[in-house]
Parts: sequence; C-alpha cells; structure tokens
Amino acid sequence: MRIAVFVSGRGSNLQAILNSPETKDIVEVKAVISDKTDCGAFKIAKSSSIPTFCVGNKPGNVSYSDLSLILSEMKVGLIVLAGYLKLIPDNFISEYKNRIINIHPALLPSFGGKGMYGLNVHKAVFESSAKVSGPTIHFVDNTYDTGKIIAQQIVDISNAKSPEEIAEKVLKEEHKLLPYVVRKFAEGKINIQDERVILT
Ligand code: GRF
Repeated sequence: MRIAVFVSGRGSNLQAILNSPETKDIVEVKAVISDKTDCGAFKIAKSSSIPTFCVGNKPGNVSYSDLSLILSEMKVGLIVLAGYLKLIPDNFISEYKNRIINIHPALLPSFGGKGMYGLNVHKAVFESSAKVSGPTIHFVDNTYDTGKIIAQQIVDISNAKSPEEIAEKVLKEEHKLLPYVVRKFAEGKINIQDERVILT
C-alpha cells in the first residue's frame, strides 16, 4: 500500500514507519507533507529520497487541492498524520474519508482537542495524576482528536516523576503501535461495524 505521511516536527514516527519490520514489506511512503519547510521529518524524508511537499498559502507551497491531485496520481491509499499540527480542510477529509489516521500521545477521548499537542498533553496527564497514559490512533474527522478510535496502548505511569518521563514512555509505544496499525490497514484488516472500529 502506498501511503503519505503528514508531519510538523522531528519525525520519529515517520522514522518508525520507515524502519519497522511491520511495514517494510507492505507499505511504501510515497510523500511526506508538512506545513513547515524546516522540520526534522523533512530531513528524514530527504535522506530516504521521499518527495516532500510544503502545504499552505505561502508562495511556493502547494494547496490542499493540488495535494489531492498529487496524492491521487501517486495512488496513495492511506494518509497518516504523525505529529501534524494543522487542521485538515473538510473537503480533503471527505475525499479521504476513513483513510486518514492520526496518532495522539494520550488515551483519547481524554487529553485531546485544540492546543493539546506535544508536552502540553503530557503536562495535563501528569497534573491530573492519571495512573495510565498511552498512544491513541484514530480516524480523522473535522475536529481535533474526535474521530473513531482504532487502537490504544496502555502505559503505566503511576511512578512517573515528570511530564517528560511520560512523553518518553508513551513515545516508545507510539513507535510500535503506529507501524502495527498501518500494516493492519494495508492488509484490509481495519473495518467499521456497528459504530465500532474492528481490527482482525
Ligand atoms: C507524537 O507524540 C505524536 O503522538 C503527536 O506528535 C508527536 C510527533 O512526534 N501527534 P514525531 O514528530 O513523530 O517525533
């Protein structure tokens, strides 16, 4: 399956998809898209000779409608948001309905929504004194972090001493869960039945 990965930051989840034995034989990253020209993830893409596109209104950027043409020409079947911070326009989401997934570094539906990204999430989790956290992978709809949940991994944080420690523990699990889910999607093993997302 051909996929595109949207990023805004360092790109460790992109790297996990590129390196994981789960995805190596079945998934090809055809494009990496960002709202920022200068991000770690673009460096990773370039070092793997993957085409990069900067999306937005600035001169030299591609628009979302350009992007949808580019991705359909590339026959991209799945879009993975891996640390992409911008809201995707409604018409792009409708075009890729149930084919856009996002990874969030906490157990949704708690600790999500606008402004809940990066260390903000882990600070909120730490201050709540929650005993568990972990990554959530969900389908993307028109609002932040509300689409149907595909997979979650529980991480014990009962002894965590800082938000940074939670971030590190959760990230380790993100790097396993995301390639696992991408593989399941590529194998056609993720389906929606009776309002639930079923993995087989
Ligand atoms: C991850 O924690 C992911 O869950 C969140 O943004 C972060 C991206 O990290 N959506 P990276 O750029 O993949 O290293």
